[in-house]
Amino acid sequence: MTDLTHYMKTRRSSLSLTLEAPGPDDAQLRTILEVATRVPDHGKLAPWRFELWPEHVRQDIHDDLQQLLAGLNDVTDREKQVQATRKLLHAPCVLVAISTAQEHPKIPIWEQHLSAGAACMNTLIAANSLGFEAQWLTAWYVYEDKARKILGLKNGEQIAGIIHIGTSAIAKSERPRPEIDSLFTIRES
Ligand SMILES: Cc1cc2nc3c(=O)[nH]c(=O)nc-3n(C[C@H](O)[C@H](O)[C@H](O)COP(=O)(O)O)c2cc1C
Repeated sequence: MTDLTHYMKTRRSSLSLTLEAPGPDDAQLRTILEVATRVPDHGKLAPWRFELWPEHVRQDIHDDLQQLLAGLNDVTDREKQVQATRKLLHAPCVLVAISTAQEHPKIPIWEQHLSAGAACMNTLIAANSLGFEAQWLTAWYVYEDKARKILGLKNGEQIAGIIHIGTSAIAKSERPRPEIDSLFTIRES
């Protein structure tokens, strides 16, 4: 087994609330972005972009989102959503991957979103390769139309992942994994 196979067979995310400084420096962030964008991309559309949300910006986004949340009706488990929003403030680095998928004569939007998902996964792997821990999160506000302006989303854009990156000494335990035989078949005809 190669080191890469071992890593891929055992990799895990770390909870964002366990991530502490240091996060990646500028050069490391550049490496993460290089790896993040080195993904399969049907039509070479590069249907994604990334935003780093520095701490002071996150504080503003957080405050605006909490204010929005407080004014929303029909919120399921409001305290849970308050806590989910608060997660924005913890990790030393928060990198947001945004799908910029658009109607295209040949490439379905679905495939463009898939490429954005691949970019999120590569971001996690790149962070790990540099010795950082990371977690891919979304939250209620990613799916709330009224939050789009706060999030700085342009027409049609969608957040694919809010990737929290940092350092953690906390050991990661295994979590239950799907039974391969239950999701893999060989077609017989
Ligand atoms: C698109 C997407 C969004 C996610 N959003 C959340 C989230 O909001 N909260 C959460 O606890 N986990 C979320 N997760 C799950 C975690 O990223 C991750 O699956 C979990 O921490 C365990 O992953 P691991 O197998 O890499 O260790 C999300 C995963 C994906 C793919």
